[in-house]
Formats: sequence, structure tokens, C-alpha cells
Amino acid sequence: MRRTAVMGWLALGGAVARAEMPGKAPPDRERGRDVYARDCAACHGPTALGEGPAAAALGVPAPPLAGRAPVRAEAEQLRIILDGQGAMPGYAAVFDEADARKVLLWLRALDPATGADPDAKPPAKPPAKPPATPPTSPPAAPPAKAG
Ligand code: HEC
Repeated sequence: MRRTAVMGWLALGGAVARAEMPGKAPPDRERGRDVYARDCAACHGPTALGEGPAAAALGVPAPPLAGRAPVRAEAEQLRIILDGQGAMPGYAAVFDEADARKVLLWLRALDPATGADPDAKPPAKPPAKPPATPPTSPPAAPPAKAG
């Protein structure tokens, strides 16, 4: 009896450790990020701050979504995502509710001010400047002809 409880805790601990492997975004958030980039960024902006290129054509602003305390309850947000509202199309035919939740999960992890993604890999270092070409030394004078 006691032993089973201990085993249970050990198994649980293992699961938690796996979910929080450093350096790797939780798979649900990664999925949310991919869906967002494909289906939402055009209007809500690449950083989810509401400045997407397609939004201008709508005539109504696409609200910022990054990291905000949700203005609406999650159920309401899911309904808007799946069924659409006003100028926003519904996505029920594109992905399911589980994916919609993953998008919301990812959005909440973003920095509300900058839209920065905590899971994003640090930007690649700019390529090192190529070394300045060394001044070409004048060709060595041909050896004086002996003679
Ligand atoms: C064609 C442009 C467009 C696209 C694409 C789009 N949205 Fe929207 N979205 C809007 C507009 C406009 C509103 C405001 C709707 C309203 O209330 O009239 C909105 C509202 C929302 C809201 C409610 C915001 C709040 O204040 O609570 C959520 C959540 C949302 N969108 C998520 C998404 C997600 C997730 C996607 C991608 C699957 C997406 N949107 C794709 C234009 C768009």
C-alpha cells in the first residue's frame, strides 16, 4: 500500500521532469505557435500585438492577443476562434478545439508588451565579419637571373 504510493509519486515525478525538459518548448505551445503563424498572424500580427498586414484591409482592428489577461473567458475566445465573429473568420473547418486551446496557451506565454516568445530560440549570431582581405603584397620579384 505504502509502496504503491511511492511508486505513483516516482512515476508522476518522471512525467513532470519530461514535460519540463530545458531548452525545448512544451509540444502544445509549439503546435499553437505553428497554427498561429499559419492562420492568425496575417491579421493579429506576427508578434500577436494586432498589427498584421491583412488587418488594415478589414477596416476594424484585429485585437492584440499576446500575453494579455484574457478579456473574455476562454470558452468565449474558443467560440470566436472556431465560429468567427464580425470580420474574423471561423476556423472550425481548419482545426479542432484542441488546437485552438494550444494557440491560446501559446498566446498567453507571449510577452504582452513586445510579443516576445519565451520558447523562441535566441536569435542566431550574425555571421562573423569576413576578415578584411589582406593587402596583396606585390608579387615577389623574379629571382635575378644568374649569369
Ligand atoms: C481576417 C483577419 C483575422 C484572422 C485571420 C484572425 N482573426 Fe482573430 N480577430 C479578428 C478581428 C477583426 C477580431 C475582432 C472581432 C470582433 O469582436 O468583432 C478578432 C478577434 C479575435 C479574438 C477575440 C479577442 C478578444 O478581445 O477577446 C481572438 C481570441 C482571436 N481573434 C483569435 C484568433 C486566432 C487564434 C486566429 C487564428 C486561428 C485568428 N484570430 C485569426 C481578425 C482576424
